[in-house]
Amino acid sequence: MMAYPYDDKRIILTLQIDHSRLAGYFAAQWGNRDFDRPSPYASVVLAAGEHDIGWWEWEMCPSTLNDRGIRSIITTAV
Ligand SMILES: [Fe+2]
Repeated sequence: MMAYPYDDKRIILTLQIDHSRLAGYFAAQWGNRDFDRPSPYASVVLAAGEHDIGWWEWEMCPSTLNDRGIRSIITTAV
């Protein structure tokens, strides 16, 4: 799950699995006269769309505690 500041009081939460699905949509539309379509097309589109599927279980029941009960949050500057 990714969190971005929206304004002074609110944040936007984006699921990794939704981001992954969007990447798949982008991959499916990739390609024009300047850029080749992904190759092998079906495999690349599938890989893009499923690349973060491993987050699904956690994102359906998110917690800031890891499996040892220790608070675990990764943050990066944007
Ligand atoms: Fe990703």
